[in-house]
Amino acid sequence: MSYSPGLENVPATESSISTIDLEAGKIWIRGYSLEELAMECTYEEVAHLLIYGHLPDTRELNEFRRKLVDESLAPKEVLDILGMLPKDMHPMDLLKTGIAALSGFDPELENSDIEANRRKSVRILAKTGFLVGNLGNIREGGFRLFRSDLGHAANLLYAIIGRRAESWELKAFETAFILYVEHELAASTFAARVIASTMADIYGAVVGAVAALKGPLHGGANEKALEIFQYDVEGAEKFVRERLARKERVMGFGHRVYRRGIDPRAEVMKNVLAELCNRIGDDRLYRVAVRVEELMANEKNLYPNLDFYVAPVYKLLGISPGLFTPIFVASRVAGWCAHVIEQQAANRIFRPRAIYTGPRGQKISGRG
Ligand code: CMC
Repeated sequence: MSYSPGLENVPATESSISTIDLEAGKIWIRGYSLEELAMECTYEEVAHLLIYGHLPDTRELNEFRRKLVDESLAPKEVLDILGMLPKDMHPMDLLKTGIAALSGFDPELENSDIEANRRKSVRILAKTGFLVGNLGNIREGGFRLFRSDLGHAANLLYAIIGRRAESWELKAFETAFILYVEHELAASTFAARVIASTMADIYGAVVGAVAALKGPLHGGANEKALEIFQYDVEGAEKFVRERLARKERVMGFGHRVYRRGIDPRAEVMKNVLAELCNRIGDDRLYRVAVRVEELMANEKNLYPNLDFYVAPVYKLLGISPGLFTPIFVASRVAGWCAHVIEQQAANRIFRPRAIYTGPRGQKISGRG
């Protein structure tokens, strides 16, 4: 048996959802470039592309937008459960609990045919957005309802910041939100597919994916990457050098697939950060980012991933750090659902082998 630690370069499934094309420097989502989708589409259009397999026409888009608002309000019982949990619980753990609890209210929980999975995906997408937007508000005993005059990303930002975002704020937020939507077989997506392959329900697969995303080596990196941005350029350089000297990781750098260059999503967010800094007339965060990027390239031959450039953008938008990874969930849930639908439509259970390194033939008797 050949073995690749971390399954590096091991194809684990066939998929028509997305691929990282290193030669073209693109991420293709059902044939469209993710970077172009992020610049030219709304989140709902891209989520529709993932869940239904095509970009929506006007009628489909209006209906999808309406459903995302109509289906958003989580049951009172779920809000009550979240309100009872410890105040210092990480928002990702609240969210995991919230999505698990939502499963109890879905009448189609045990139906895993394609159309039922699509209908459940829309409900999960709508309610996950609502929960993420309101995680802070629920702890204060309230929530902000999603509004029919706003798109999904705008509603999420509205619930988080408590006012309708300016168009330039929404553009920055929604660009990041779309860039997060799908990324081939990331650890959380693989986790979702493994769970789905047992023919467990789609909520279980999403809860497992949320648990995987929380880790600092995956989605949790966007919250951790923020640490660097509390410093000025010199302070950030010192912080990074000290971490490297201690052989610690600098969050927001490196990627299993992008070994030799910047993640194309990070390039887009770098421009978004530059524009935001221009608009507010303070370029400290951009200068810090560029210096750290140069340093990491020179010292470690490592390049930024999306999380590195999202962290300062969210900071400038006034979003609290604990929500960085939950927002990633609210976006990626569309990708996870697409993978669950694809997996269960032509399923074979995942059951790999381990290379055993333990002993054999131990005697149970004679232990003393
Ligand atoms: N800072 C410092 N050194 C690093 C980093 C980093 N961020 N990333 C990798 N390295 C080093 C690592 O120590 C190793 O060095 P050596 O060969 O001397 O032991 C070498 O680079 C190869 O690393 P690896 O651990 O074999 O790489 P991997 O493919 O297993 O891990 C990774 C990929 C993303 C987990 C890793 O680069 C990392 O921990 N990065 C920081 C966390 C992060 O930003 N995660 C977000 C990933 S992208 C978005 C997402 O998927 O959520």
